[in-house]
Amino acid sequence: MADGDSATASGKLTELPVSGGEKGLPRSGKFSSGRTLNTAQIPLVASHPEVYEPCDDSFALVDALLSDKAQLLTLQPRLCMEIGCGSGYVITSLAIMLRQLGSGTQYIATDINQYAAETTQATLEAHGVHADVIATDIVSGLEKRLAGMVDVVVVNPPYVPTPEEEIGSKGIASSWAGGLNGRQVIDRILPAVREMLSERGWLYMIALEDNDPSDICHLMSEMGYASRVVLKRCTEEESLYVLKFWRDAHAGANASPRSSGHDSWFSQLPFRSLWHK
Ligand SMILES: C[S@@+](CC[C@H](N)C(=O)[O-])C[C@H]1O[C@@H](n2cnc3c(N)ncnc32)[C@H](O)[C@@H]1O
Repeated sequence: MADGDSATASGKLTELPVSGGEKGLPRSGKFSSGRTLNTAQIPLVASHPEVYEPCDDSFALVDALLSDKAQLLTLQPRLCMEIGCGSGYVITSLAIMLRQLGSGTQYIATDINQYAAETTQATLEAHGVHADVIATDIVSGLEKRLAGMVDVVVVNPPYVPTPEEEIGSKGIASSWAGGLNGRQVIDRILPAVREMLSERGWLYMIALEDNDPSDICHLMSEMGYASRVVLKRCTEEESLYVLKFWRDAHAGANASPRSSGHDSWFSQLPFRSLWHK
């Protein structure tokens, strides 16, 4: 864990009555002691029974962003976006992390679940940061406005392998239901992200071993993106990866053919070179 304010500080989630800066944190985003936050504070993250509560995957994603904080500050992203924002923990943490960039950096968050959009709004307000929060399917309706505009995309998608019928919920099941190999929503997100990302844009995405992260990287490689594992975390239940993608003229050329899904991820040696840039 990179710092004391960070995500693994688990705490019970509480419904926050939020209005301006008078409750929770002052709009400056500082504790009353004056200590500046590095990430969203779990006790100040709003909750709802139909909204995904920040968990190991959310924490891993924020930890990966923290580990890349210096590079993100150097990138000076003009527009950052989260797809599937849930409680707002990740987008709020990112906005806090990059706060010093000021109004030069804007934030957008989407979620298919209306309650998640409302909860994210409350979490952002509790921490004194702002994002445009939109209840929509992935980036539906935003394609034209955002094409080639987004410098940083973060995604903790629904990745759990489930029967296909479970896909399509707009409630809490949308948090995890990933269909076959947990890839059904992921495979819709990737081409959408490619359209949104600017030339210098980066994507950070959570994937599970079951999702075949090597195949995800091959797919992205075919679209012209190099990749690396920013963070790997094994919990009792799952092996989580935070993958980072960025445009690379040689990415497609270096990629070996996509796996059948049965090959070991690390056995695909030609591809590994991309992972250690
Ligand atoms: C695993 S949760 C992650 C929530 C939050 N980002 C976090 O890390 O704590 C996945 C989120 O994606 C949202 N989601 C699922 N399918 C979606 C879609 N097609 N478009 C937008 N959001 C979607 C879910 O509603 C849920 O909030």
